Amino acid sequence: MKVLLLGKGGQVGWELQRALAPLGEIVALDHDSTDWFADFSQPARLAETVAAIRPDVIVNAAAHTAVDKAESEPELARRINAEAPAVLARAAAGLGALLVHYSTDYVFDGSGDAPRDESAPTGPLSVYGQTKLEGEQAIQQACPKHLIFRTSWVYAARGGNFAKTMLRLGRERDRLTVIDDQIGAPTGAELLADATAHAIRATLADPSKAGLYHLVAGGQTSWNGYARFVLETARMLGIEIKATDVEAVPTTAFPTPAKRPLNSRLDTGKFQRTFGLALAPWQSGVERMLRETLS
Ligand SMILES: NC(=O)c1ccc[n+]([C@@H]2O[C@H](COP(=O)([O-])OP(=O)(O)OC[C@H]3O[C@@H](n4cnc5c(N)ncnc54)[C@H](OP(=O)(O)O)[C@@H]3O)[C@@H](O)[C@H]2O)c1
Repeated sequence: MKVLLLGKGGQVGWELQRALAPLGEIVALDHDSTDWFADFSQPARLAETVAAIRPDVIVNAAAHTAVDKAESEPELARRINAEAPAVLARAAAGLGALLVHYSTDYVFDGSGDAPRDESAPTGPLSVYGQTKLEGEQAIQQACPKHLIFRTSWVYAARGGNFAKTMLRLGRERDRLTVIDDQIGAPTGAELLADATAHAIRATLADPSKAGLYHLVAGGQTSWNGYARFVLETARMLGIEIKATDVEAVPTTAFPTPAKRPLNSRLDTGKFQRTFGLALAPWQSGVERMLRETLS
C-alpha cells in the first residue's frame, strides 16, 4: 500500500510519519519538498503530485493553522484550508483512494454547554473556522471515500505548545493569568496519529466506515484548568515552579483578532463505536508529554 502524507512537519504530521509507517510505503511531503510539489498555496498543482504518486491513501495534515493571522490573510487561508483539500478530494476520487483530513472544533459557534456530535449545525466565528468548514464540505462533495476528523486543542512533544509556554511562565512568574471560559479537550498529536492509522486500516477493510468523526481526548477542561494541571504535574516531577496561583479570567480579558468558540466540547461517541477504540482522559496524554519533555 502507498500512502501520501502531506504536512509531514507539523504537530500531527510528525506523529503520522511514525504511526503510518507500518501501513506500507509512505511518501511524506511538506510545502518546501523538492522531489514533489506540495505547496498548498498553489492548490491546482497538487493534482499533478497526486497523479504522479498514485497513492492508495492520502493523509492531509497540512493546514493554515495560524488562527489570528488568518483574519488578515483570508485568501491564503482559503487556498490552503479549502481549495487545496478540494483538489486533493477530486484527485483521490479519480484514483479511488481514501482521503484522510483533519478539521476543527472552530467550525462551531461555541454556544451552550453540551458536547456537539457530527450532526450539530456549524457556525464558524473566524476565517480559520470558515475555511476549515469549506474544506470539509469540498471533500464530502467530491470524495465519498474520506475520513474527516474534527479535533481540538492539539499539542505535541515536538515544537512549542500551550503546556510548554505555561511551564516556562510558571518558572519565571509568581502568578499566571489564564482564561477559564473556553472549554475543550487538549488532544495529543500522538493520539490523533495512532487513531488515524487504526481508522485507515478499518476503513479500507470496511468502506462503510468512511465519514466525518469527532476525535478528541476524553474529558474536558478550560485553558485555566489545563494550565493548573501542567504546573501541578511539573511540581510532581520535581520541577521548581514559582507561580503559586493561576488567576481565572474571561476570554474578553485577552482580545484577539479571531473570535474563538467558548464551548469546544465534542462528542466522540460515533468514533469510539465505529472503530472500537477508547479515548483516554486528556490528562494522561498531557502528563506523558510533560514527562517526555522534562526528562
Ligand atoms: N493545532 C490545533 O490546536 C488544532 C486544533 C484543531 C484542529 N487542528 C487541525 O489539525 C490538523 C493538523 O494541525 P497541526 O496542529 O499539526 O498544525 P501545524 O503544526 O501548524 O502543522 C501544519 C502543517 O501544515 C504545513 N503548511 C502550512 N502552510 C502550508 C502550505 N502552504 N503548503 C503545505 N503545507 C503547509 C505546515 O508547514 P510549516 O510548519 O513548514 O509551515 C505544517 O507542516 C490541521 O488540519 C488543523 O487544522 C489543529
